[in-house]
Amino acid sequence: MDPLLELAARLSAEHVDTAPERHVGWRADASELRAALGRELSLDGEDGEAVLRELAADAEPGLVMSTSPRYFGFVIGGTLPVARAADWMTVAWDQNAGGYSCSPSMSVVEELAGGWARDLLGLPAHASCGFTTGCQMAHVTGLAVARHSVLGRRGWNAEEQGLNGAPPLRVVVPEDRHITVDAAVKLLGIGLANLRAVACDDQGRVIPSELERELAREPDMATIVTVQAGNVNTGAFEDFAAVCELAHQHDAWVHVDGAFGLWAAATERRRGLVAGVDQADSWATDGHKTLNVPHDCGMVFVRDPDAHIGTIAVDAHYLQRQHGERNNGDWSPDFSRRARATPVYAALRALGRRGVANLVDGMCDRATQFAEILGADPRAEIVNDVVFNQVLVRFGDSDAAVDAVTAGIQQEGTCWASATEWRGRRALRISVSNWATTPEDVERSAAAMLAQVPA
Ligand SMILES: Cc1ncc(COP(=O)(O)O)c(C=O)c1O
Repeated sequence: MDPLLELAARLSAEHVDTAPERHVGWRADASELRAALGRELSLDGEDGEAVLRELAADAEPGLVMSTSPRYFGFVIGGTLPVARAADWMTVAWDQNAGGYSCSPSMSVVEELAGGWARDLLGLPAHASCGFTTGCQMAHVTGLAVARHSVLGRRGWNAEEQGLNGAPPLRVVVPEDRHITVDAAVKLLGIGLANLRAVACDDQGRVIPSELERELAREPDMATIVTVQAGNVNTGAFEDFAAVCELAHQHDAWVHVDGAFGLWAAATERRRGLVAGVDQADSWATDGHKTLNVPHDCGMVFVRDPDAHIGTIAVDAHYLQRQHGERNNGDWSPDFSRRARATPVYAALRALGRRGVANLVDGMCDRATQFAEILGADPRAEIVNDVVFNQVLVRFGDSDAAVDAVTAGIQQEGTCWASATEWRGRRALRISVSNWATTPEDVERSAAAMLAQVPA
C-alpha cells in the first residue's frame, strides 16, 4: 500500500477509535496551536510522512471530538463508519463531479442518492436534487430558483436582466429563522431590507394568522416565504399545510429550511411533524447533520426542475455536453467539485429505510431521555417542547448558572454543548445528532451537567 495512505489510515483509525473516550472539547488555544503548527514554509519541502505525523500530533489538542457520542454542540452530526470510508474513496478517486463528461459514475451516483433521499424525505417524485456544500448553499440555490420563478411570473428574467429595475421582491421569514437564510438573501442581492419577519409562537413556529396578515399587506408583490422543519434552538416544526396554503393563495414560493429536521419524514414515528411539507416549492437539508455523513454535504430539492436548471445551468462548447445525462453542476452553484453524494449513496444503502428511521428515532429518543433526566432534577428546567433532537435546559433559574454549567462541562470534558438565548433567557442547548449516542452516554452527560450546577 502507498505508505502515505497507510499512515493516514492508521492515524485516522487511532483518532476514530479513541474519540469516544477522549475529552470532548478542545484543549489548546489558538496561540498554543500556532506555536505547535506554525513553521517557516521551507524552500524545498518536507518529507510527506513527517508532515502527516506532525500535523496529526500538533492539531490534536485543538480538535473537537465532534464525532464523539457525547458531543451535543450546535447541530453537527456524527459520522457513520460506512460514510467515512466512502468519503476516503471519494478522495482517492478525486473525480470532478461537476460534469457527466468528467465522471459518468459520479453523475449516476448523485442521481441515485438524490432520488433515494427525496423518496425518504417524502418529497414529490419529480422534484430535482442538487448537492451543495451544506444547507447554507442549499438555501442560496433554492432561493435563487425562487427568485427566478416569482420574478419570471411577472415577466422579469432575473438571470438575464439582473435585479436593477426588477419588480419589488420580498422574502417573508419567521422571526426565529436560521441566520443562513439572511446570508442567502444577502448573497442573492435581494437585500436584508426586503425581509419581512413574521411573529412566531413560544416554540419558534410561524403564527399562521401573522403570516396571513403580512402577505395581505402587499398582496400582489413577488413573494418568497421561508419556513423551517426544525428550529435551530427548539427543534420545532411549522404547520406546513397552513403555511403553504396561505402562501400559494398569494402566488408565493415556499422554501423550507429543513437542515436537520426534514429527516423526520424518514420515520413513521415522527412523520407527522412534517405533514404538508411536500406542498412547498423548494427544500434545503443537510447530509452532514442528521444523516451523519462527513462534511461537506447539503442537498436542495426543487418542485420544478425546469426552473432549477434554468436558474443554474450554463454551457460552453468545450464541456462536451451532448449526452443527455445528468450534469451535477446544473443543480448547484459550484462548477468543479468533489463527489459529495458518494457518502450519501453508501450511507443510505448500508442503512436501508429501516436503518434511516432508526437513526432518526435514536437521536430523538436520546433527546427525550435528556429531558426526562434533567427535567426530574429540581435544579433544572426544560425550556422547550422536546419534539425532535433539540433540548433547551436552564439551571438554577439564572442566566449565570446556565453559563457556569456551560463553561464547566466544556472544561470538564465528559460532554460538550453550548449555550443560547431563548426568549430573553440563557439556556444550555443540547443537540443529539450522532448515530453513536447511547442511553448510557446520555446518563453520563446529564450527570456531568448537573455536577456543574453552582451550589
Ligand atoms: C436550521 C438550520 N438551517 C441551516 C443551517 C445551516 O447549515 P450548514 O451549516 O450546513 O450550512 C443550520 C446549521 O446548523 C441549521 O440548524
